[in-house]
Amino acid sequence: MKKLNIPFQLTEIENLTELTAEDQQLVSLSKEMADQAYAPYSEFFVGAAVLLENGKIIKGSNQENAAYPSGLCAERVAVFSASALYPGIKMKTIAISAKNRHNTMNRPISPCGACRQALLEYEFRQKEPVKLILSGQSEKIYIVNKVQDLLPLSFTADELGRL
Ligand code: THU
Repeated sequence: MKKLNIPFQLTEIENLTELTAEDQQLVSLSKEMADQAYAPYSEFFVGAAVLLENGKIIKGSNQENAAYPSGLCAERVAVFSASALYPGIKMKTIAISAKNRHNTMNRPISPCGACRQALLEYEFRQKEPVKLILSGQSEKIYIVNKVQDLLPLSFTADELGRL
Protein backbone atom coordinates (compact mmCIF):
# COMPACT_ATOMS: atom_id res chain seq x y z
CA MET A 1 0.00 0.00 0.00
CA LYS A 2 1.20 3.51 -0.67
CA LYS A 3 -0.21 6.98 -0.31
CA LEU A 4 -0.20 9.18 -3.38
CA ASN A 5 -0.03 12.94 -3.19
CA ILE A 6 -1.64 15.07 -5.85
CA PRO A 7 -0.12 18.52 -5.51
CA PHE A 8 -2.20 21.59 -6.22
CA GLN A 9 -0.89 25.12 -6.44
CA LEU A 10 -2.71 28.35 -7.05
CA THR A 11 -1.64 31.95 -7.08
CA GLU A 12 -3.39 34.37 -4.76
CA ILE A 13 -3.40 37.99 -5.78
CA GLU A 14 -4.41 40.81 -3.45
CA ASN A 15 -4.78 43.50 -6.03
CA LEU A 16 -6.09 43.57 -9.59
CA THR A 17 -3.13 45.69 -10.69
CA GLU A 18 -0.84 42.68 -10.19
CA LEU A 19 -2.44 41.12 -13.27
CA THR A 20 -1.42 41.80 -16.86
CA ALA A 21 -3.58 44.31 -18.73
CA GLU A 22 -5.08 41.43 -20.75
CA ASP A 23 -6.06 39.51 -17.61
CA GLN A 24 -7.41 42.66 -15.95
CA GLN A 25 -9.67 43.20 -18.94
CA LEU A 26 -10.96 39.63 -18.71
CA VAL A 27 -11.71 40.02 -15.00
CA SER A 28 -13.52 43.25 -15.61
CA LEU A 29 -15.60 41.66 -18.40
CA SER A 30 -16.48 38.73 -16.13
CA LYS A 31 -17.68 41.20 -13.49
CA GLU A 32 -19.75 43.08 -16.06
CA MET A 33 -21.30 39.79 -17.10
CA ALA A 34 -22.12 38.88 -13.49
CA ASP A 35 -23.99 42.17 -13.25
CA GLN A 36 -26.10 41.10 -16.23
CA ALA A 37 -26.75 37.50 -15.16
CA TYR A 38 -30.29 36.19 -15.21
CA ALA A 39 -30.48 34.70 -11.73
CA PRO A 40 -33.80 35.77 -10.16
CA TYR A 41 -34.15 32.54 -8.16
CA SER A 42 -30.76 32.11 -6.49
CA GLU A 43 -29.77 35.78 -6.68
CA PHE A 44 -26.25 34.45 -7.14
CA PHE A 45 -24.80 36.22 -10.14
CA VAL A 46 -21.91 34.75 -12.09
CA GLY A 47 -20.06 36.05 -15.14
CA ALA A 48 -17.41 34.48 -17.32
CA ALA A 49 -15.15 35.69 -20.12
CA VAL A 50 -13.13 33.30 -22.28
CA LEU A 51 -10.11 34.50 -24.23
CA LEU A 52 -9.53 32.47 -27.39
CA GLU A 53 -6.18 32.09 -29.11
CA ASN A 54 -7.50 34.15 -32.04
CA GLY A 55 -7.98 37.08 -29.64
CA LYS A 56 -11.77 36.90 -29.48
CA ILE A 57 -13.41 37.08 -26.08
CA ILE A 58 -16.62 35.11 -25.55
CA LYS A 59 -18.72 35.99 -22.54
CA GLY A 60 -21.42 34.28 -20.54
CA SER A 61 -23.51 34.62 -17.42
CA ASN A 62 -25.65 32.17 -15.47
CA GLN A 63 -29.12 31.72 -16.93
CA GLU A 64 -31.75 30.41 -14.55
CA ASN A 65 -35.19 28.97 -15.21
CA ALA A 66 -38.43 28.55 -13.28
CA ALA A 67 -37.83 24.83 -13.84
CA TYR A 68 -34.59 25.04 -11.85
CA PRO A 69 -32.47 22.29 -13.49
CA SER A 70 -33.09 23.84 -16.91
CA GLY A 71 -30.78 26.74 -16.07
CA LEU A 72 -27.05 26.81 -16.76
CA CYS A 73 -23.92 28.12 -15.05
CA ALA A 74 -22.01 31.07 -16.48
CA GLU A 75 -18.87 29.05 -17.22
CA ARG A 76 -20.75 26.55 -19.35
CA VAL A 77 -22.73 29.25 -21.15
CA ALA A 78 -19.39 30.85 -22.05
CA VAL A 79 -17.38 27.78 -23.10
CA PHE A 80 -20.25 26.14 -24.98
CA SER A 81 -20.83 29.38 -26.81
CA ALA A 82 -17.09 29.75 -27.55
CA SER A 83 -16.89 26.23 -28.93
CA ALA A 84 -20.07 26.69 -30.96
CA LEU A 85 -19.01 30.02 -32.45
CA TYR A 86 -15.32 29.20 -32.92
CA PRO A 87 -15.10 25.42 -33.23
CA GLY A 88 -11.60 24.09 -32.70
CA ILE A 89 -10.11 27.43 -31.65
CA LYS A 90 -8.14 26.99 -28.45
CA MET A 91 -9.20 28.63 -25.20
CA LYS A 92 -6.36 30.40 -23.41
CA THR A 93 -7.93 31.86 -20.30
CA ILE A 94 -11.28 32.01 -18.57
CA ALA A 95 -12.09 34.68 -15.99
CA ILE A 96 -15.00 33.89 -13.67
CA SER A 97 -16.53 36.27 -11.18
CA ALA A 98 -19.48 36.05 -8.81
CA LYS A 99 -21.54 38.13 -6.45
CA ASN A 100 -24.35 37.22 -4.11
CA ARG A 101 -27.46 39.09 -3.09
CA HIS A 102 -25.91 40.45 0.12
CA ASN A 103 -22.72 41.59 -1.62
CA THR A 104 -20.73 39.43 0.76
CA MET A 105 -18.85 37.32 -1.74
CA ASN A 106 -15.48 38.14 -0.22
CA ARG A 107 -13.52 35.29 -1.77
CA PRO A 108 -13.04 34.11 -5.34
CA ILE A 109 -15.69 31.80 -6.78
CA SER A 110 -14.87 28.14 -6.98
CA PRO A 111 -16.50 26.69 -10.11
CA CYS A 112 -19.01 23.88 -9.50
CA GLY A 113 -18.13 20.28 -10.26
CA ALA A 114 -20.18 20.08 -13.46
CA CYS A 115 -18.44 23.18 -14.83
CA ARG A 116 -15.02 21.77 -13.97
CA GLN A 117 -15.92 18.68 -15.98
CA ALA A 118 -17.22 20.74 -18.92
CA LEU A 119 -14.13 22.99 -18.90
CA LEU A 120 -11.83 19.99 -18.72
CA GLU A 121 -13.34 18.56 -21.90
CA TYR A 122 -11.99 21.52 -23.88
CA GLU A 123 -8.63 21.59 -22.12
CA PHE A 124 -8.20 17.89 -22.81
CA ARG A 125 -9.25 18.28 -26.41
CA GLN A 126 -6.89 21.16 -27.15
CA LYS A 127 -3.97 19.59 -25.25
CA GLU A 128 -3.07 22.97 -23.83
CA PRO A 129 -3.94 24.41 -20.44
CA VAL A 130 -6.81 26.82 -19.91
CA LYS A 131 -5.85 29.30 -17.19
CA LEU A 132 -8.57 30.26 -14.71
CA ILE A 133 -8.82 33.66 -13.06
CA LEU A 134 -11.31 33.52 -10.22
CA SER A 135 -12.76 36.48 -8.38
CA GLY A 136 -15.56 37.49 -6.06
CA GLN A 137 -16.46 40.91 -4.76
CA SER A 138 -13.24 41.57 -2.91
CA GLU A 139 -9.92 42.41 -4.54
CA LYS A 140 -8.64 38.89 -3.91
CA ILE A 141 -8.06 36.81 -7.01
CA TYR A 142 -7.02 33.20 -7.49
CA ILE A 143 -5.17 32.10 -10.57
CA VAL A 144 -5.29 28.40 -11.34
CA ASN A 145 -2.87 27.26 -14.04
CA LYS A 146 -5.08 24.63 -15.62
CA VAL A 147 -8.53 23.08 -15.28
CA GLN A 148 -7.04 19.66 -14.55
CA ASP A 149 -5.73 21.08 -11.25
CA LEU A 150 -9.35 21.56 -10.12
CA LEU A 151 -10.35 18.05 -11.06
CA PRO A 152 -7.77 15.45 -10.10
CA LEU A 153 -8.46 11.83 -11.05
CA SER A 154 -10.74 13.18 -13.72
CA PHE A 155 -12.88 11.22 -16.13
CA THR A 156 -12.04 12.06 -19.73
CA ALA A 157 -12.32 10.75 -23.29
CA ASP A 158 -9.20 8.73 -22.46
CA GLU A 159 -11.24 6.41 -20.26
CA LEU A 160 -13.69 5.85 -23.10
CA GLY A 161 -10.80 4.74 -25.28
CA ARG A 162 -11.60 7.57 -27.65
CA LEU A 163 -8.19 9.23 -27.77
N1 THU B 1 -23.42 29.07 -10.74
C1 THU B 1 -22.59 29.41 -11.77
O1 THU B 1 -22.98 30.11 -12.72
N2 THU B 1 -21.31 28.96 -11.72
C2 THU B 1 -20.78 28.22 -10.70
O2 THU B 1 -19.64 27.79 -10.79
C3 THU B 1 -21.58 27.96 -9.51
C4 THU B 1 -23.03 28.23 -9.63
C5 THU B 1 -24.81 29.53 -10.80
C6 THU B 1 -25.83 28.45 -11.04
C7 THU B 1 -27.05 29.07 -10.43
O3 THU B 1 -27.65 29.93 -11.39
C8 THU B 1 -26.53 29.93 -9.29
O4 THU B 1 -25.14 30.13 -9.58
C9 THU B 1 -26.66 29.30 -7.92
O5 THU B 1 -26.14 28.02 -7.88
